[in-house]
Amino acid sequence: PLADAEQVARRAAHHIATRIERHGPSAQRPFVLGLPTGSTPLGTYRELVRLHRAGALSFRHVVTFNMDEYVGLSPSHPQSYHAFMHRHLFSQIDIPADNIHLLNGTAEDLDAECRRFENRIRHYGGVNLFLGGVGSDGHIAFNEPASSLASRTRVMTLTDATRRANARFFNDDPAQVPRRALTVGVGTLMEAEEIMLLVTGAHKARALQAAVEGPVNHLWTVSALQLHPNSLILCDDDATLEL
Ligand code: GLP
Repeated sequence: PLADAEQVARRAAHHIATRIERHGPSAQRPFVLGLPTGSTPLGTYRELVRLHRAGALSFRHVVTFNMDEYVGLSPSHPQSYHAFMHRHLFSQIDIPADNIHLLNGTAEDLDAECRRFENRIRHYGGVNLFLGGVGSDGHIAFNEPASSLASRTRVMTLTDATRRANARFFNDDPAQVPRRALTVGVGTLMEAEEIMLLVTGAHKARALQAAVEGPVNHLWTVSALQLHPNSLILCDDDATLEL
């Protein structure tokens, strides 16, 4: 645990920068980074941009895969995860456009789109580091409670709780939040070489408790991380209230 969200962001960004640096610059074998959206990673993205601007970090040999995307929102919709990622990170760093991978929530054949995404990840030899957040109900990416812990990238119907939680990005109106999303599966996440989870705020205390102390189970999909040989949770003091 760290004192506050700012320290979590700084530590997370430095961890990512160190991994990229250690991997070394290679176009043949780029560093593969999995990325989340949500409020939690914003501080980390700010810090990564700062490191890049200071000349301390380049993304020229980094390939990214985002965890999820809403079904039905075009990439130009301001609340799509495409737009979010470009706004907060990609437009401010030197990552080549071809290195960025996001699920297309407007694909005609959504199942084929999910298969394409898994194949792209495989093409690069898997994810080196997956950064994640967690929903207050313990979902990781959009793997809602009761998702199989072996799940792959697929279409997911969002719970009412998630749509209420994300209504703040849609004029505070849950009805405007898409009903479905594309998401990597828990199984997809678990195959990453390393997973780093960010958990901040008292509203995430129950989820952190389930992640760390609860039994591994599909109702709190984040609990699967207990079985990962190389996962790290960075949290602030407020999130530890239930531990
Ligand atoms: C959404 C995202 C998750 C994210 C969660 C928590 O459901 N699909 O990847 O972890 O929100 O978001 P926040 O960081 O805003 O609390």
